[in-house]
Amino acid sequence: MPRPYQPSLLRLLHGATALPVPLAWLTGLLVYSRYDGRFGRLPFTLSGEWIDIHGTVGVLLWPLALLFAFYALTAGRLRLRQPANAFVLVALVMAVGSGKLMDEDWLRDGQFHHLVYSVHLFTWLLIALAVTLHLVAVLQRGGLPLARSMASLSLRPGDLPSHWAAQILRSIRSRP
Ligand code: HEM
Repeated sequence: MPRPYQPSLLRLLHGATALPVPLAWLTGLLVYSRYDGRFGRLPFTLSGEWIDIHGTVGVLLWPLALLFAFYALTAGRLRLRQPANAFVLVALVMAVGSGKLMDEDWLRDGQFHHLVYSVHLFTWLLIALAVTLHLVAVLQRGGLPLARSMASLSLRPGDLPSHWAAQILRSIRSRP
């Protein structure tokens, strides 16, 4: 079986997006535990401005997620036929989008009734589920070689940064 290969632009955008996701998830958990905690709290508190830290990770994440979503919907659209890939993209966009609509003072002021906050809490669960399913699906489909192909640094001829614009344009032009 040939070694799986992922296009370099996909690897760059996927990595740049996937790395901050666990950070956003964990800092979100700390924020929830400290300020909300209606469904339970962590048995410890970590000092720190976690709302600001979580917000900073979110600010970093949303332009990356936007670029990645654009790539996935254009050059990567065939991969989205895998339900777990499509699901994790939807969960990411929902989490980042609802986070963008949050007001950072809501939790400090004890305002838990906002619909956007409920959606954001729900997407926190959704992203954990979606990333887990995504990883299981990747491992089931191609095992460790497929998972590793996303972190590989190898480049094929014709897949250099100078080819990225043409790859996107080609995928847009060849849209059915
Ligand atoms: C943490 C958050 C993650 C998110 C939001 C995410 C999202 C996505 C999305 C949306 C795609 C489809 C891209 C496209 O249509 O071009 C994809 C593909 C892929 N991801 Fe992830 N991913 C994450 C983590 C990971 C991790 C940790 C691994 C493996 C170690 C991984 C391995 C892969 C692989 C191998 C593919 C290509 C699968 C295929 O060819 O169908 N992902 N990912």
